[in-house]
Amino acid sequence: MNFHVLTLFPDMIMQGLNTSIIGRAIEKGLISINTINIRDFSEDKHKRVDDYPYGGGAGMVIKAEPVYKAYEHLVNQIKQSRPEGFAEYKPRLIYATPQGRVFSQTMAEEFARLDDLIILCGHYEGIDERVLELIVTDNVSIGDYVLTGGELPAMVMIDAVARLIPGVLNNDISSEFESLRDNLLEYPQYTRPELFMGMKVPEVLLSGHHANIEAWRREQSIIRTYERRPDLLEKAPLNKAESEFLKKYINQSQSDTEQ
Ligand code: ADE
Repeated sequence: MNFHVLTLFPDMIMQGLNTSIIGRAIEKGLISINTINIRDFSEDKHKRVDDYPYGGGAGMVIKAEPVYKAYEHLVNQIKQSRPEGFAEYKPRLIYATPQGRVFSQTMAEEFARLDDLIILCGHYEGIDERVLELIVTDNVSIGDYVLTGGELPAMVMIDAVARLIPGVLNNDISSEFESLRDNLLEYPQYTRPELFMGMKVPEVLLSGHHANIEAWRREQSIIRTYERRPDLLEKAPLNKAESEFLKKYINQSQSDTEQ
């Protein structure tokens, strides 16, 4: 899969993603990350890309023209790397903005099915609305807070999507059985030693009994989701026995707090 980032700070993207698991995935050729510096497409002799907002107000606005030119350049690049027949190709383009839909695991899974994904990073007070109208297919936020630019959100999204590409994680199944699959949080994990500061590893994990271990982990996921993210639990597909288990757990913890 190829990620393309339209940004004023390409070094930030490249430096942020070329280590650890994502760095190895790039080295192995499983994914590629291509940055396009919007500033390279400024026709201004001082290479300026921003200007004052019409109507007044604080801050500067990124001009439509360099963004559009950077986009056209990128789309031509992508088309050239593809077989014939992509003349009408309109790529998926995410604008990283606090005004977007909030990014989720479901969105990461959807994006991971694409061959090319473009992310546009804003800065200052935003980007001229006209170019956004022309090129953006999805407005996406990484959460209800405001950052100084779209680069960190772009890196967050690329990381979450890239780890779903087959081969990126060492263990192919590990991205399937994790937090937020089925809207349940992951069960707690332990490694050696068996005793740490007086705290023991749960006995069942030492038993070697796989069915019991699996059942315990599922219960722990349910408890953890109830305690930490009850909002997710409403969407979690619990079977009858699991719903009963949860009801008992809730009753038990309520009577514990009353005592
Ligand atoms: N740009 C600034 N804040 C952002 C956010 N929360 N999500 C995505 N892009 C942003």
